[in-house]
Amino acid sequence: MPDYYFETVDLKFELGEDKTIVSSKIAVHPRVEGVSSPLVLNGHDLKLVSVKVDGNELKKEDYHVSSRHLTLSSPPSSTFTLEIVTEIYPQSNTSLEGLYKSSGNFCTQCEAEGFRKITFYQDRPDIMAKYTCRIEADKSLYPVLLSNGNLIEEGDLQGGKHYALWEDPFKKPSYLFALVAGQLESRDDTFVTCSGRTVVLRIWTPSQDVPKTAHAMYSLKAAMKWDEEVFGLEYDLDLFNIVAVPDFNMGAMENKSLNIFNSKLVLASPETATDMDYAAILGVIGHEYFHNWTGNRVTCRDWFQLSLKEGLTVFRDQEFSSDMGSRTVKRISDVSKLRSYQFPQDAGPMAHPVRPHSYIKMDNFYTVTVYEKGAEVVRMYKTLLGSSGFRKGMDLYFKRHDGQAVTCEDFFAAMRDANGADFANFLLWYSQAGTPRLKVTTSYNPETRTYSLKFSQEVPPTPGQPVKEPMFIPVAVGLLDSSGKDIPLTTVYNDGRLQTVASTDEPVFTTVLRVTKKEEEFVFSDIAERPVPSLLRGYSAPVRLDSDLTESDLFFLLAHDSDGFNRWEAGQVLARKLMLNLVSDYQKNIPLALNPMLWMELEAY
Ligand code: SER
Ligand code: ZN
Repeated sequence: MPDYYFETVDLKFELGEDKTIVSSKIAVHPRVEGVSSPLVLNGHDLKLVSVKVDGNELKKEDYHVSSRHLTLSSPPSSTFTLEIVTEIYPQSNTSLEGLYKSSGNFCTQCEAEGFRKITFYQDRPDIMAKYTCRIEADKSLYPVLLSNGNLIEEGDLQGGKHYALWEDPFKKPSYLFALVAGQLESRDDTFVTCSGRTVVLRIWTPSQDVPKTAHAMYSLKAAMKWDEEVFGLEYDLDLFNIVAVPDFNMGAMENKSLNIFNSKLVLASPETATDMDYAAILGVIGHEYFHNWTGNRVTCRDWFQLSLKEGLTVFRDQEFSSDMGSRTVKRISDVSKLRSYQFPQDAGPMAHPVRPHSYIKMDNFYTVTVYEKGAEVVRMYKTLLGSSGFRKGMDLYFKRHDGQAVTCEDFFAAMRDANGADFANFLLWYSQAGTPRLKVTTSYNPETRTYSLKFSQEVPPTPGQPVKEPMFIPVAVGLLDSSGKDIPLTTVYNDGRLQTVASTDEPVFTTVLRVTKKEEEFVFSDIAERPVPSLLRGYSAPVRLDSDLTESDLFFLLAHDSDGFNRWEAGQVLARKLMLNLVSDYQKNIPLALNPMLWMELEAY
């Protein structure tokens, strides 16, 4: 816990060609009134000009500056005002962190630890404060001056300069601060929220690119509507700005009401953009917009919790893209990405849990594990709770934590408590690295008319984690009869304990088995004939699945499975088997011939 909290931060930027002067005025209060401890501020490559406490310039012996910190040895033990002036050089900042110049425009990137390159600050996400930002700059070079929140004042200054004063009414961590100044033009539109407020939307680019922002604007409005409809989440300010810049480290950044994007994720014209480009723009515009609630209104207590906002927001953008296009196609592409990039990470020297235990440089932890596997973890809550249970969990999460900096456990607890759910050892998904391997053996007993699935699981060792506990793996399962139709499921025994699958008169065709042990058996009763199982429907858990399904079972699933993802998956597994068979035929000098069943199945469509 920090010893000091910041209530308000008033920033002033005097943007210049050689240097920029940053003045900050912070209302500080100690965590424990009456207790003075050293106040340690982060700072990186800053030139300190002056530091004042309650209006008085500090003497040299009252503070210490190093290349990374400014330390006040004994600040007041009750509320005080801290004023710091620093000098920075955005023109020569090539790190693309902090304040830098890109193609003639000033621009910021503060996540994760860039704010400390702007001014001395407690640069950590649990320090949430209300900001104002006054920007002064040459009017002809930088006609547009943007920061977070609402524009409350603007005007001309002497010497061809002008200023703008921005006020963000919401508390935020420093990583969400943003400033943009330059020659930009905007595509303007409006969105009327569910409660009837009109929000002005602006997408800023160099003037020649404005025609290429139509799809980005469409995507933004669609995202705003979707978040209202699906999660009841309304935008909370009267203005929303997006800026596209050509030099940007990350794909895009969710700064409060001033999202900054790499141009390639905003600009598209029908002459040059592919369908993939359009889909990426929709997804990333959605992603950054959705952060307004999952990341900004509720943020991370520390950077170990990054997946709290990123896993959740990737999940939200995946769902948004699914609802706007084809759910199955989107799921196939997300799972393919997970398998191609995250599985190798989980199996290699960089393997780390969704919530890492340590980091050397935070920037290195913006990984496919934190983002993509993190999104799979969020998806599993939804698979276990259903849409309405998941929504209840989200509602409780916001009710409890709006305006706070919280942890992955807080999210877990909201999901659990809103549903009275038993999540067993689910939290291991945050702490154990490695992709679990799940094996299934199937058997049918015609005498007892029962069908059994025997699971065994293993999580491979990863660096620093030689021995693993069994995980809680939700396995969505359906059973197909010999005509290819889903069999209505009624009861299943889990290690001998009876569970009713259908709680209403509605027939149930997919049930989620809770695999929590190293070895576990599930037995379906009332099954009239040997079924073909559709396992891990919708790819319900990020695991490697091995089953004893035969080629003919796979052909059957490819033709009939009502789960689109698993139909595709059956085709993949089958094609791999057939190709490996050909390899072995070749090695044995057997003439090569593709299994004719494959052509028959494909021709059927
Ligand atoms: N927070 C940013 C994002 O996820 C950084 O990449 O979009
Ligand atoms: Zn994000």
